[in-house]
Amino acid sequence: MEQAQTQKKRIFSGIQPTGNLTLGNYIGALRNFKLLEDEYDCLYSIVDLHAITVRQNPAELRKACLRTMSIFLASGLDPVKNIIYFQSQVHDHAELAWILDCYTYMGELSRMTQFKDKSQKHADNINCGLFAYPVLMAADILLYQSDLVPIGVDQKQHLELCRDVGQRFNALYGDTFVIPEGYIPKVGAKIMSLQEPEKKMSKSDPEETYVAILDKPDVIRKKIRRAVTDCENRVLFDPENRPGVSNLMSILSALTGSSMDAIAAEYDGRGYGVFKDAVADAVIAVLEPIQNEYDRIIADKAFLQQVMESGAERASQIAHKTMLKVRKKVGLAAWKL
Ligand code: TYM
Repeated sequence: MEQAQTQKKRIFSGIQPTGNLTLGNYIGALRNFKLLEDEYDCLYSIVDLHAITVRQNPAELRKACLRTMSIFLASGLDPVKNIIYFQSQVHDHAELAWILDCYTYMGELSRMTQFKDKSQKHADNINCGLFAYPVLMAADILLYQSDLVPIGVDQKQHLELCRDVGQRFNALYGDTFVIPEGYIPKVGAKIMSLQEPEKKMSKSDPEETYVAILDKPDVIRKKIRRAVTDCENRVLFDPENRPGVSNLMSILSALTGSSMDAIAAEYDGRGYGVFKDAVADAVIAVLEPIQNEYDRIIADKAFLQQVMESGAERASQIAHKTMLKVRKKVGLAAWKL
């Protein structure tokens, strides 16, 4: 039994504790965390060090970390099967990130589209952390010798950088890191904004553009009813020409498992009102039970504390092993670890 467990492949993924977690985060990432928990050894982190690359209100950030952990747990993740923890409580993330900074080129980081977008959004605070953000993400993943990384499509470029840096390090020092693969869902890897369906649904955009995981059913229905579609009144999957309705179809398909053809066959010709109500029903059916669990978990501070402590301890044990190897390879003092 012990043997079988240690042979499982490893998963790492993280979510930033900023703003409200959205339906995009749920469909693109969180839902898959749960689906993969039996087959893999999984570490799921609330990546608070990433969050401070943009200015945060400290008290609010601390609460947001607990909210995010509660959402992880409310979505059904088992804290015994999985290691659920705050990134900043395992110091090795920051240490490995620094070391990997020295093996990552400015040119590589300058090409990252998220850096370009974020530096436009936060033009008054283009800090080094924002620039080196993908290196910290690479450290997160490589630290645990992760095989698989469940993410939405927007993180694909960062994962590729992680692979490049890991391979570069391995080429210089011999096998040190497992080079990870992405796990990007076929449907729902990029849920779009409800108001501007050419853009990704994002927790840092205005409220009406996303469904938050914690939005109450009446709010969810209102937001979906107001989602931008078009004037053709056809329920056909065509992201290029009908981005709004195609986005709603992706949401429905991801949550119910119905194919695009089946959705079109059921709803085309019945009007957007009926279709949007069906999408809202599906979203509410998935999110309402999570919200009920969330209310119970967020109130149980002792339980959260225990998950947080045991998660950080279990993660540290794995991280320390990698750091010992890395320190030896690059010539840093290794005997204290
Ligand atoms: P973050 O916090 O922006 O998003 C968390 C996860 O949700 C996915 N996602 C989406 N998927 C589909 N449609 C959307 N509209 C949508 N919006 C977000 C993201 O792709 C992500 O998987 N840098 C990461 C956090 C991170 C991380 C890591 C992830 C830090 N270290 C190591 C994986 C492995 C981020 O900002 O995700």
